[in-house]
Amino acid sequence: MKITTVANQKGGVGKTTLEIHLASYAANSGKRVLVVDLDEGDLSLFYGAADEGDTTEYLMSSQLFSDEHEGRQPRQVAPNIWLIEADVPLLDVDDMDLSVVHNLKAGLERFADDFDLCMIDTPPNLQRRMVAALVASDSVVAPFNISPFTISRMPKLLRTIQTVQEEFNPALRFLGFMPNLVNSRSPDEIEILPGLREAYGEMMFAEQIIYRPCINKSQASGNPVWVKANGSSQRVAGREMKVACEAILSQVWAD
Ligand SMILES: Nc1ncnc2c1ncn2[C@@H]1O[C@H](COP(=O)(O)OP(=O)(O)OP(=O)(O)O)[C@@H](O)[C@H]1O
Ligand SMILES: [Mg+2]
Repeated sequence: MKITTVANQKGGVGKTTLEIHLASYAANSGKRVLVVDLDEGDLSLFYGAADEGDTTEYLMSSQLFSDEHEGRQPRQVAPNIWLIEADVPLLDVDDMDLSVVHNLKAGLERFADDFDLCMIDTPPNLQRRMVAALVASDSVVAPFNISPFTISRMPKLLRTIQTVQEEFNPALRFLGFMPNLVNSRSPDEIEILPGLREAYGEMMFAEQIIYRPCINKSQASGNPVWVKANGSSQRVAGREMKVACEAILSQVWAD
């Protein structure tokens, strides 16, 4: 099982959106995917609650940090996709001793033979949960939007990754920054990208995900953008998202 984290120390840049699409793309290509919500529930909300009448006690993400899971299992939420949902005690992880950052890796180990890919969604701040995700992962990908605030924090994320590599997980690979929410009608945004690509070189993907309201809309109805495409703009958005997912996942599978 490959473990990949979607991270950025900035909110609202599309971490959860990218995770949803990467998981769906991999699942559609026949991979068994485990998605882990280490944030405050956006990912869990996207997949929806368990069916009414389903009284199974599923594994919740705080339990990955303890050994109190009593054999609980993730919940299947789509063909080839299983979810470990965020719960309220997950927030307590950030107040625990630093050694807690090793627990997630240990907690995920028992799924190594059950899934091909585990995707972890993280909160935007550098706390125990995010460090734990990076400690447990083989690779990390970082969506970003073209705003001065986000761009100024990109070096901070690279420093975080470097620290985790040095102190905890030398095998962690940074797959790259993925431009998202790009406003194709803004000359400023389009002009900034080549300079960023030059500055970050191989640390930035050549692909980009354009801002398209249909992405937000389809997510609100529980679907990746390429499902039930309604009109040409959504078809284009679906194609762009697939190209971005393919670029990222081909690096996830590479060793
Ligand atoms: N390319 C896009 N086009 C249009 N809307 C987008 C795009 N990417 C993300 N969004 C929308 O932007 C909002 C923020 O995205 P998302 O929740 O994925 O960001 P996040 O980084 O996970 O945020 P947080 O840090 O709060 O968890 C969502 O409403 C999402 O649907
Ligand atoms: Mg999110």
